[in-house]
Amino acid sequence: MKPRILKENVYSIGAVDWDRRLFDELIPLPDGTSYNAYLIKANEKTVLIDTVDPTMTDVLMHNLDELNIKSIDYVVTNHAEQDHSGSSPAVLSRFPNAIVICTPKCKPMLMDLLLISEHRIKTVEDGETLSLGDKTLEFIHAPWVHWPETMFTYLREDRILFTCDFFGSHLATSDLFVTNETVVYEAAKRYYAEIMMPFRAVIPKHLERIKPLQIDIIATSHGPIYDKPKFIIDAYKDWVLGELKNIVVLPYVSMHGSTRAMVRYFVDALGEKGITVKQFDLARTDIGKLAMALVDAATIVIGAPQVLFGAHPNVAHAVFLANVLHPKLKFASVIGSYGWGGKMLEQITAMLPNLKLELIPPVIVKGYPKEDDYKALDKLAEAIFNKHKENNLV
Ligand code: FEO
Repeated sequence: MKPRILKENVYSIGAVDWDRRLFDELIPLPDGTSYNAYLIKANEKTVLIDTVDPTMTDVLMHNLDELNIKSIDYVVTNHAEQDHSGSSPAVLSRFPNAIVICTPKCKPMLMDLLLISEHRIKTVEDGETLSLGDKTLEFIHAPWVHWPETMFTYLREDRILFTCDFFGSHLATSDLFVTNETVVYEAAKRYYAEIMMPFRAVIPKHLERIKPLQIDIIATSHGPIYDKPKFIIDAYKDWVLGELKNIVVLPYVSMHGSTRAMVRYFVDALGEKGITVKQFDLARTDIGKLAMALVDAATIVIGAPQVLFGAHPNVAHAVFLANVLHPKLKFASVIGSYGWGGKMLEQITAMLPNLKLELIPPVIVKGYPKEDDYKALDKLAEAIFNKHKENNLV
C-alpha cells in the first residue's frame, strides 16, 4: 500500500502481504498478514517506527521515496523479530545517520540476528522520553510480548500507542483502520491464541501500564489500526481475565473409525447436557482454529487412537501445542482405542505438565466401542457436566 495518513505528519508506510499462508513455518495465515511500519515527521527529527519483513523491503523503500524522505534520525525497534526488524539493515544502509532505538535486551538481539553494528544502536530505559521537536516519544518496556526484549512507543501529542505485535492480527486488508469489528475480532483472537496466550500471565501488567495513557489510536504492526482502542483492550481483558466457558474442546484423530465412533457418541452425550463442543479432526484441521477454541474453554478431551506403542503423531503435536499455548483450561480427559496395548495414555498426560489440569478418568477401549464403552462415555460426559456445574459454568 502507498503511504497513508494517521494524523498530521504521521504516516503508515508498511506492507500488506496478501499471499503469505504460513508464519514461522508453523502458524496458518488464512487471511494473509501485514507488516505495519510508521513514519513520524516532526519539525526537528524524522523517525521510523519498526520496519517490515525483509521480503518486502522494496515496499518500505518505495513508500519512503513517495514521501520524499531524505534522512531518518531514528529507527525505533519495538521488537527484534525479523518480520518487523528485518528491513532495518537496509534502512540503516540507505540512511547512514540513522540510529536504532530499542530496549537494552533488544540491542544484543539486533546485533546477533541482523548483524547491526553496536555503534548504530541506542538503548532507552522504561519511561524514557525523546523529543523530536514538536512531538515527543515515550518508551514503555513491555517484556514478553512475546519475546523478552519488547516495548511500546507512545507518541504523546498525537495520542498514538505503537504496540508492535500486541493487539495485532494476521489480516491482510486494504483498510487502514478497523472497519469490520467482527472480522477483526476473529483475526485478533486467533493471533492472541497463537502468539500472546503463552504469556497471558504478564498481559494484565501491560494493560495496567497503558491505562493512564490517553490513547486515540492503537497502531499495531500486524492488521488494521484501532481508532476505537476500547474494542481491542476489552477483548484482551476478556481473553486473559474473563471467566471460563461451558465448552469442551475435542481434538481427535481416528485411523479406522473406532475413535470416530466414540467421538460422535460423546459429542451427542455432552450436547444433551447443554455443553458446547468444539470438535477438530487433527488430520485436517487448521491449528489456529484449535488454538482459538482453547482461549476460554474449561475442558479439553483428546480423542486418540494408538499408533505402534503410543499416541498418534498428530495427537502428540496438538497436545504439545496445547501445553505451550498455556490456555486457561481446568479439566482434561482422553477417549480413544487401541489394538494390542501400549503407552498412549501415559504419553498424552505426560505432555501437559504446564497446564496443571485435573484429569477426569479417561475412556480407552480395545478395538471398536461396545455397549459398556458407550456407557463409560455417558459417565465421562456426566463427570464433565458435574465439574462445570461445581465451577458455575452451567
Ligand atoms: Fe510480528 Fe513477533 O513478530
